[in-house]
Amino acid sequence: MSSFVASLCLCISAILLPLVYSTSSVASTNGGNETDRVALLKFKAKITHDPFGVMTSWNHSVNFCEWYGVTYGRRHQRVTHLNLPYLNLVGSISPHIGNLSFLRYLNIANNIFSGEIPLEIRSLCRLKYLYLSYNSITGKIPEDFSPLLEIEIISLARNNLSGVIPHPLANLSSLKVHATATSQDN
Ligand SMILES: *[C@@H]1O[C@H](CO)[C@@H](O)[C@H](O)[C@H]1NC(C)=O
Ligand SMILES: *[C@@H]1O[C@H](CO)[C@@H](O)[C@H](O)[C@H]1NC(C)=O
Ligand SMILES: *[C@@H]1O[C@H](CO)[C@@H](O)[C@H](O)[C@H]1NC(C)=O
Ligand SMILES: *[C@@H]1O[C@H](CO)[C@@H](O)[C@H](O)[C@H]1NC(C)=O
Ligand SMILES: *[C@@H]1O[C@H](CO)[C@@H](O)[C@H](O)[C@H]1NC(C)=O
Repeated sequence: MSSFVASLCLCISAILLPLVYSTSSVASTNGGNETDRVALLKFKAKITHDPFGVMTSWNHSVNFCEWYGVTYGRRHQRVTHLNLPYLNLVGSISPHIGNLSFLRYLNIANNIFSGEIPLEIRSLCRLKYLYLSYNSITGKIPEDFSPLLEIEIISLARNNLSGVIPHPLANLSSLKVHATATSQDN
């Protein structure tokens, strides 16, 4: 039995970028890293199945900067990368992800995340790379990614998303936008 499932691919890559490197260092607010730790634990709490057991390293006896897939920036003492692709993780994306405010790289591609893309993701104003492709994410593509000032790549392919390419994003002249409707046999 094969059903036709439309999935949407939205790939945005910027070529021009390296010009602006704001060195205005935000004074790291006390407890900012505690916010990160809480956000990571909330993220973990939404994962219902973890066949490889990678999330067991996310426990209280280990500092969160050593948790699997987590990269910690020494400068601001905050989480900068969350890299968890190809792990068959089942669950949904916690809105608390939006509290990882120094996150630059988020890759949870090739898992079994379902539910919607939390709008809180737009709080990640330092995010450059967002990889959500090859999951089971549903709902609409957020209409407005414009708070993601640094974004270079958004990869949403092979999900069950609907909607259109966010207009304000498509309007940024430094970005290359490719959108293709692909199909998938199930
Ligand atoms: C979190 O920040 C506090 C205060 O800035 C610092 O003392 C502590 O070492 C930091 N924790 C980690 C894991 O870096
Ligand atoms: C916590 O994580 C460490 C590092 O991966 C692991 O060795 C340890 O067994 C974990 N503890 C629990 C209770 O899962
Ligand atoms: C983190 O995010 C959640 C959900 O978006 C929010 O309710 C919470 O107040 C945020 N802040 C902290 C410090 O956890
Ligand atoms: C995809 O989304 C549509 C509409 O939300 C739903 O009817 C359909 O069952 C979904 N398909 C899969 C494979 O999740
Ligand atoms: C696109 O950019 C132009 C020029 O900067 C601006 O006037 C217009 O409002 C923008 N459109 C959207 C939908 O953001």
